Amino acid sequence: MDRTFVIVKPDGVERRLIGEIVGRLERKMLRVVAAELRTIDRATAERHYAEHDGKPFFAGLVDFITRSPALLLVIEGPSDTWKVVRNLMGATNPKEAAPGTVRGDLAIEMGENLIHGSDSAESAEREIAIFFPSQG
Ligand code: RTP
Ligand code: MG
Repeated sequence: MDRTFVIVKPDGVERRLIGEIVGRLERKMLRVVAAELRTIDRATAERHYAEHDGKPFFAGLVDFITRSPALLLVIEGPSDTWKVVRNLMGATNPKEAAPGTVRGDLAIEMGENLIHGSDSAESAEREIAIFFPSQG
């Protein structure tokens, strides 16, 4: 089995979309193998999004992801799970995300795009280690 890391971001929890978003992953036959509702602290958010450190949107991104509880998930599938999840998520900018995707169907603004999914198998393992050290 093959794992990836997913966050239902604070906007998704605030909008009562946990069931909608996790339901889409489950209907695809992906499995939730770890889950925790947690307000992400600033240091952890900065570590998670380290690749974006120095970009103009970095501070706003950290403010957003730490503003209220998020649902942290380890998701399992048969193979290429990170890619399967990214396809279900849709493009980063919801205005360009295809209908049928989480962002295409449910979001409009780039800064409130509901879901995070790791962008490679390596990122998935790095992020699982950050958020679920016991799952390493
Ligand atoms: P994520 O990491 O949250 O799953 O999103 P992603 O891979 O689709 O996009 P990424 O490039 O990693 O960017 C992380 C988050 O930063 C915000 N962003 N804003 N204003 C901008 O140009 C810009 N670019 C990225 C988005 O909220 C994106 O989800
Ligand atoms: Mg990303």
